Amino acid sequence: MAGGDHVPVLLEEAVTALAVQPDGTYVDATYGRGGHARAILARLARTGRLFAFDRDPAAAASARDIHDPRFVFRSCWFSQLVEELAALGVLRVDGVLLDLGISSPQIDDSTRGFSFRADGPLDMRMDPARGESAAAFLARVTARELTEVIREYGEERFAQSIARAIVAARAVAPVVGTRQLAAIVAQAVGARPRGDRSQDPATRTFQALRIFVNRELAELTLILPRVVPMLATRGRLAVISFHSLEDRIVKRFLASASQPFGGDPRLARLPIRTAALPPAPLMLVGRAIRPTEREVAANPRARSATLRVAERTPHPVPAGFGATPRP
Ligand SMILES: C[S@@+](CC[C@H](N)C(=O)[O-])C[C@H]1O[C@@H](n2cnc3c(N)ncnc32)[C@H](O)[C@@H]1O
Repeated sequence: MAGGDHVPVLLEEAVTALAVQPDGTYVDATYGRGGHARAILARLARTGRLFAFDRDPAAAASARDIHDPRFVFRSCWFSQLVEELAALGVLRVDGVLLDLGISSPQIDDSTRGFSFRADGPLDMRMDPARGESAAAFLARVTARELTEVIREYGEERFAQSIARAIVAARAVAPVVGTRQLAAIVAQAVGARPRGDRSQDPATRTFQALRIFVNRELAELTLILPRVVPMLATRGRLAVISFHSLEDRIVKRFLASASQPFGGDPRLARLPIRTAALPPAPLMLVGRAIRPTEREVAANPRARSATLRVAERTPHPVPAGFGATPRP
């Protein structure tokens, strides 16, 4: 089954948060199907520019539909976008949007293996050209490592039973299908598969494997400090996250980067007068924004979304910046 459309989450809120200047230069680090990108383009004048990135080849194919001289798309993992922009001659930007996680077309395309709603190969890579598929990972991982992955990234209390069940199952036959994995998980936790993302016993295990296979938290931890020095004064960083693990990283990063110690947590612990510390490179803009009930009713994927926004101050990025707290 091929993927359908993607309904962008917090569309108005995120684009408003970027405070788009008509002649500004913007980055959409997670193009997906371009919902946010199109809304940003709509606010740009002829002199504005939008650079978009995504590591999924289907997103790259969709970006080819935008024929606009102000728009440039490059396939890359967003931790590398600073280099990609530099290669395009772009060293300063007025806003960066990160809309994390996966898109509906990725979930809906059973050949990608993100979902158990339909049977498909257990791949789960956003970029199928790089890294290990979920099936390859499950074929080699120890029960102990797998328990950690499922517990940490899936926040799954039955992680150990599930990991043991997967290791036992693969001794009989390789675990290579989405429905096969969902059935193993359901049996391990003594529940019936429901095929519904919000309630199926396999939901957390699928989330954990997807986060692991795509190095999602590492990518996020790498990119946040890297975009700050690129932001022009008053430039905005807007991040939409979809689960608590991501949101915790974003929240902690923004909190520390908006402290006088400039995001270096080591300095915060020293007995130094605040005035002697480097001023903060970022300033928080408002509180976390969540979707309205109306948006969630229209688009259930929005229910766990959180948008956080920060603005670049005029202060230089201090040395040591980027020593972000560990997730
Ligand atoms: C939630 S969707 C974005 C949807 C988009 N804002 C829209 O309106 O269509 C997230 C997208 O980010 C991409 N993505 C996630 N992590 C990435 C990473 N580390 N590097 C590049 N792309 C990534 C995924 O492939 C997916 O297409």
